[in-house]
Amino acid sequence: MKTLLVGLVASLAAPVSGTFVVKCYSRLIDERADPIVNPGAPASHVHVIAGGSGFNFSMDYNQARASKCSTCNIKEDLSNYWTPKLYYHAKNGSFISVPIMGDDGYGNMGGMAIYYNHHRGPNNDVIHPFPPGFRMLAGTSDRRAPSTDVGASNTGHLCDGQGPTENLPTTKCSQIRSQINMPSCWDGKNLDSADHKSHMSYPIGDMSGPCPSTHPVRLMSIFYEVTYSLVGFEWYSDQQPFVYSNGDATGYGFHGDFVNGWDTAALQRGIDNCATGVPNCEAQNFDLITDQGVTQECKLPAQLNEPVSGVLAELPGCNAVSYGPASATPMENCNPASTKIVAATAASLGYVDVTSSKGFKYIGCGTDNPGSRTLTVAQISNDQMTVENCIDFCKSKGTTYAGLEYMGECYCGNTLPADRAPVAGVLGNCNMKCRGNSNEICGGAAAISLYQACTGGACTNSAKRMARRLAGAHHAVAMGLMHSH
Ligand SMILES: *[C@@H]1O[C@H](CO)[C@@H](O)[C@H](O)[C@H]1NC(C)=O
Ligand SMILES: *[C@@H]1O[C@H](CO)[C@@H](O)[C@H](O)[C@H]1NC(C)=O
Repeated sequence: MKTLLVGLVASLAAPVSGTFVVKCYSRLIDERADPIVNPGAPASHVHVIAGGSGFNFSMDYNQARASKCSTCNIKEDLSNYWTPKLYYHAKNGSFISVPIMGDDGYGNMGGMAIYYNHHRGPNNDVIHPFPPGFRMLAGTSDRRAPSTDVGASNTGHLCDGQGPTENLPTTKCSQIRSQINMPSCWDGKNLDSADHKSHMSYPIGDMSGPCPSTHPVRLMSIFYEVTYSLVGFEWYSDQQPFVYSNGDATGYGFHGDFVNGWDTAALQRGIDNCATGVPNCEAQNFDLITDQGVTQECKLPAQLNEPVSGVLAELPGCNAVSYGPASATPMENCNPASTKIVAATAASLGYVDVTSSKGFKYIGCGTDNPGSRTLTVAQISNDQMTVENCIDFCKSKGTTYAGLEYMGECYCGNTLPADRAPVAGVLGNCNMKCRGNSNEICGGAAAISLYQACTGGACTNSAKRMARRLAGAHHAVAMGLMHSH
């Protein structure tokens, strides 16, 4: 089977203190979205976003629970987790997105690991599940200097496993792991608060300390890890060259966001049964996605018409790079006209409109399996492959479906198995450029861009049908997601 999925073998040792881990093998999207801080509007900076596909510019618990898929491996958890995205600031002023471990440049994305830690504190508190509607933010985006605030030391960076330091590493490393402990003591009343923080508190002292009397209700202590690969980026002699999407070149402004999307009963099971480091407790208590490739299909289409990856002239959202120690001034109303939230377009969905030129419509990104093809009547593979060439070939074979895969492969058929068909609301993993036209998308690894002959009536692309069902993907990847202990 041909896939370009590469990575490192994950180290899956369970951490100390009784923990289960939500392994978000992939991400939904990188976008200037933050339904906590900027509901209904573009956020001030780009986030890397994992979790349930119900994520949106504004969202509630029901929308999270209505997710059609997730980039994380515990099916009962449809929460969202996000942090700022890291860029390289080149000497010539360009910003270049830094890959997260698992990003392969062909559309597959790496993700993050979320540790659910049990810290009952000295009073052996009962740990409660996150209530429906709960959300929180930790860290301070505008901070550019060390702080003695409670919680400041809960963000950190590791340079090739060394650290953590609150600041971004200042010496050369091949990987940076960015991490954050979210607060775990709740006021017991508010699902959110004006600053999205004050309904929560860190325990006194450290994560295993007592909860303060103002925030007496103990929740799970969740801890995020995102690992960036710095291989190939030249370091300057005078300063480290990386900057977060919020313009933070210090690392002190790293932060994390959480929107609860848990099935409460399942989270309660994890709390009850994984408390003492039970081996394999995830598999015993949750319904797990074991095929990491399935999480790659769970992507969302961009709703802002701005590039956030590759080589960029400026950080999206007009964020100026700041080196501290003064706090950054957040940017307001950056390019408001060009960054309206818009419905997914042909370009953001990666298809070509051939409704009038060829009489075929795009129906979405489905899945394929080299062992048993989705479209079986005819196939051709070449270096000149484009959407148009494939459709012409399938028309010459008289078939109603044309599918493109893996940059240069074209498949034709007359039936589309239901379990391979696109699924509404999700993008799928069709991300590869056509060998014959780099402006067009020709499927992905085990992912097929599907076009269908129009019959009768109007010939319109089905932008709503964008991916496939969660079950039954047939590829797997291993990647370096989690740290070793
Ligand atoms: C996000 O919200 C927009 C506008 O309400 C809607 O059109 C879109 O379908 C939503 N996306 C998801 C994944 O729910
Ligand atoms: C700046 O340099 C980087 C390599 O460090 C390069 O990829 C990028 O294209 C350059 N930008 C411009 C505008 O030339």
